Amino acid sequence: MTRSFSGIKPTGHLTLGNYLGAVRRWADVDQYASDALISVVDLHALTVEHDPARVRRLSRQAASLLLAAGLDPQRCTVFVQSHVDEHARLSYLLECTAADGEMRRMIQYKEKAARAQAVGESVRLSLLTYPVLMAADILAYGTDEVPVGHDQVQHVELTRDLAVRFNQRYGHVFTVPKATHPRVAARVMDLQDPTSKMGKSLGNGPGVVFLLDDADAVRRKVMRAVTDSGQDVAYDRESHPGVANLLEVLAACVHESPQVLADRYASYGALKKDTAEAVVELLRPLQKRHAELAADPAYVDEVLRVGAARARALARPLVDRAYRAIGLLPAS
Ligand code: AMP
Ligand code: TRP
Repeated sequence: MTRSFSGIKPTGHLTLGNYLGAVRRWADVDQYASDALISVVDLHALTVEHDPARVRRLSRQAASLLLAAGLDPQRCTVFVQSHVDEHARLSYLLECTAADGEMRRMIQYKEKAARAQAVGESVRLSLLTYPVLMAADILAYGTDEVPVGHDQVQHVELTRDLAVRFNQRYGHVFTVPKATHPRVAARVMDLQDPTSKMGKSLGNGPGVVFLLDDADAVRRKVMRAVTDSGQDVAYDRESHPGVANLLEVLAACVHESPQVLADRYASYGALKKDTAEAVVELLRPLQKRHAELAADPAYVDEVLRVGAARARALARPLVDRAYRAIGLLPAS
């Protein structure tokens, strides 16, 4: 059976972009079509300035939201990255496989490092090496497929390069994975700035819909979305990014194509209204289930405990093999 692996960082509240770009597919497709491992990748949340109590809180919230979104612990493995030592163990070997120059070329690193420097913050070394840890997350499980949004393409490409390079140098250890994306909404844009990704670290961004936003907040954010000048509802990401984004969100909610939907609307107002209602309906069952799970943290903890035990058992032998292949003396 195909093995899939994906992860989500507890750096902020989960957004509609996370859900449409990644989480929904893990729940609707990947857990049925593959042996799916889904991880709350908490070590990745330490690559930027963080508050320990907040990371702890967001990690449990992310896990509850994954279950609320329909991930079934009987069908897939849900766990917290830091509960499985193998990720950090393998990451070091991959740091010895990667080159400094290729890390500095990563777009997300360049963007985040520039933003930190602009406000006089130092850049953590782990921000530079973070894609290597991500490669370790993936390669530790012999993963075939990595279901992610479009922003992760470059990191998965790096993962492939590292797997191939390691295998060539030290013998075949790693499966070379490939990224998969949803057909629509693989990159949901900020409603206030449709040329930037809708991202969860943007604090209380008025252009970011969070999965736990109440119906009024969702309506307000969607109704105030920046659209383009002009009147025609046309699906064109280049010339009409704001309208195209709304069409994609609506299309993803109602399982239609954005092109077909564009023909159905004569005004931006009507499009916004239907998009707002579609998002409210999309989130309603998820929020209800999340409220139940939030009231039962012991259940969530137990799911995470079982998930980590399974993940550990899968990763351990593979990472041990990599340690031997690279020339480290086995502990007897
Ligand atoms: P992150 O929030 O960066 O941990 O991302 C978790 C998953 O959500 C990854 O697969 C991302 O590609 C995906 N994702 C995050 N933001 C968006 C977005 N605005 N549109 C589509 N997918 C996204
Ligand atoms: N880097 C990913 C993001 O920012 C999160 C992530 C970490 C991930 N490890 C992963 C995604 C492994 C897929 C597979 O979204």
